Amino acid sequence: MKQSLSLSGPIGVFDSGYGGLSILRCIKQRLPQYDYLYLGDNARAPYGPRSFDIVYRFTLQAVEYLFRQGCPLVILACNTASAKALRSIQQNDLPGIDASRRVLGVIRPTVEKIGELSASGIIGVLGTAGTVRSRSYDMEISKLYPEFTTVSQACPMFVPIVENEEFEGEGADYFVRKYVDALFGQNADIDTVLLACTHYPLLYDKIRKYVPERAKVITQGDIVAESLADYMERHPEMEQRCTRGGRTEYRTTESPESFTRLARIFLGEPVEVSHIDM
Ligand code: DGL
Repeated sequence: MKQSLSLSGPIGVFDSGYGGLSILRCIKQRLPQYDYLYLGDNARAPYGPRSFDIVYRFTLQAVEYLFRQGCPLVILACNTASAKALRSIQQNDLPGIDASRRVLGVIRPTVEKIGELSASGIIGVLGTAGTVRSRSYDMEISKLYPEFTTVSQACPMFVPIVENEEFEGEGADYFVRKYVDALFGQNADIDTVLLACTHYPLLYDKIRKYVPERAKVITQGDIVAESLADYMERHPEMEQRCTRGGRTEYRTTESPESFTRLARIFLGEPVEVSHIDM
């Protein structure tokens, strides 16, 4: 479907809900000069337990929405959407919508960095059930580093714990220990644990507490932000289409009231958000 789309506009940042704000926070710190349009599909979150097809369909709708708002570049700041929808959108949908626009995800930049971080080459991935089932990290890591071993553990309780603001509570300890033990039970020689979900940075302290000291625990926000800065340098034609004004707009498919409270926790500052229908 051909649409008439404006050439320049804000950078679109999409997530199933709040989590992408933890990525946006780092992107804004690294690249404060650009305008951003954040979209959270809170009405249909979480994406983690949903099927491949549904996540793909919802993500495509979001990307088309952000393109209609003028975004020349959209970041899927969601591991589940990146795992299940990015490739199809890039390869099958983008050429028919507008081949000059770009959609980037969070998995590739994270994996590119992992080679510098791991000495043993044994990587542990904590993610949603959808991300782990897609095996996207395993495939991407073995493509870039064929000698590496990846073990993954789905942590289905982490997103609800964070969204119910229990991430500092004792209940969180129970589940963090359970999933971390399960991960290291698969391979005790893991030296790098990747938090492959936008919500998990809020559980960082607890995860750090149960991961053996000799292993690193890696969050994605700064990695994605650095990779975007590098992308902008390498793609001046796209960089010129991203408007500069340091403004950020927030939109959600849910009610603004429920978004505002949790958004503050993820972003570290209050936000004003408006409701949209996709
Ligand atoms: N944003 C999602 C991710 O990074 C987590 C929340 C969800 O399951 O929708 O995988």
